[in-house]
Amino acid sequence: MAPRFKAPRGTQDVLPRDSWRWQRVEAAFREVCRRFGYAEIRTPVFEETELFARGVGEGTEIVSKQMYTFEDRGGRSLTLRSEGTAPVVRAYIQHNLAAEGRLVKVYYTAPIFRYERPQAGRYRQHHQVGVEAIGAPGPDIDAEVIALFHSFLTEIGLAGGVTHLSSIGDANCRPAFYQDLREFFAPKIAEMCEFCQARYETNPLRILDCKVPHDVEARQGAPSALEHLCEECREHFAGVTSALDALAVPYQVDPTIVRGLDYYTRTAFEVIHPDLGAKDVLMGGGRYDGLVEQLGGPPTPGIGFGSGLERLLLVLGDQVAPAAADVYVAAASAEARKPAFALAMELRRAGVATELDYHARSLKAQMREASRLGARYTALLGEDELSREQVTLRDMNSGEQQSAPRAEVAARVRALLDGGE
Ligand code: HAM
Repeated sequence: MAPRFKAPRGTQDVLPRDSWRWQRVEAAFREVCRRFGYAEIRTPVFEETELFARGVGEGTEIVSKQMYTFEDRGGRSLTLRSEGTAPVVRAYIQHNLAAEGRLVKVYYTAPIFRYERPQAGRYRQHHQVGVEAIGAPGPDIDAEVIALFHSFLTEIGLAGGVTHLSSIGDANCRPAFYQDLREFFAPKIAEMCEFCQARYETNPLRILDCKVPHDVEARQGAPSALEHLCEECREHFAGVTSALDALAVPYQVDPTIVRGLDYYTRTAFEVIHPDLGAKDVLMGGGRYDGLVEQLGGPPTPGIGFGSGLERLLLVLGDQVAPAAADVYVAAASAEARKPAFALAMELRRAGVATELDYHARSLKAQMREASRLGARYTALLGEDELSREQVTLRDMNSGEQQSAPRAEVAARVRALLDGGE
């Protein structure tokens, strides 16, 4: 029978058989952030709608088409977190984090909501791991943020990601660039989609981000931001590339990077992976030197990235699942069941992942279950063992058995596991 309820379109359940993969990637991310000196920040799952409208930009697809916006019972317009940076900047200003240091380095793992057309690697609720470094204007922090993600990929064993790097300039060089873009698109704009026509007036850079096939075609040969950089932006970009070279972090300069959010200035980057669809990137980020001020704080530079966990896991592919139990305690008779339960508890208290039978099954069925769970050892309790106050420990790989005094089992198992036997 078809189930009456299903998870909403574009969302997915992370099931027990998969959650260990999520945990592994999240733990690796936390560990790399710890090494780089980034502390966790957690912000609410919804914010005032205005925060995203102002922060991300009215002309972006995220704000114009993809937000999950609702009115609460008090008549406030709220929006489910549609990206991670604006909320972090909001918290940075609200709690005056600037007072805690000239550079504030934070990371997050958070669900993000966007009304997109669902497909493999694209969801309406996805999850991002991300970092934000707020307060440093120089290019070293740009290189550090990119290097952090590179280290994270190495840590989880994900190969094949290529970092594409560009600079999209700042308020200084943008007017001339926008002027050139408008001149380039002037003869074509009437044939382009209505969004591009609006973008032509408000933010012509957005035209380069349009997904409509005709418009993708029309932008071939469009001027690039890299060619229009002012002296300061050019110097900053050279600083980023030389720092990356010094750190031996590989990258490709790619002037076609646009980014889908309006707050970016100067450095912009994306990590592309061949196993993802052409439009889907593994990670995206960049510098946002105007955002803190735009959201009501003092002029403060910032940089960060976000990377979709679903995409990281998709590219990582199948991995060998860790064993669900270190030890399976098997009871060979009805009398042995209670002592087996007590032994399992003792092992668990000693830090050993322990499973046992809850269905009064035969010894044979219990041994099958122990193999299914991938248990390294079984601890067998039968009549013989009970009368001699012993437990039979069986190595499930080699089949070797040994007898251990009941009182010493926990310590013996710990020693076996710690010794990597
Ligand atoms: P973004 O490029 O919109 O940037 O998203 C970052 C990453 O989230 C993407 O590279 C992708 O891996 C993942 N992602 C985005 N949308 C989806 C989706 N519908 N389904 C699955 N994964 C998705 C930001 O959000 C910026 N806040 C990043 C940033 C942080 N920039 C500076 N600091």
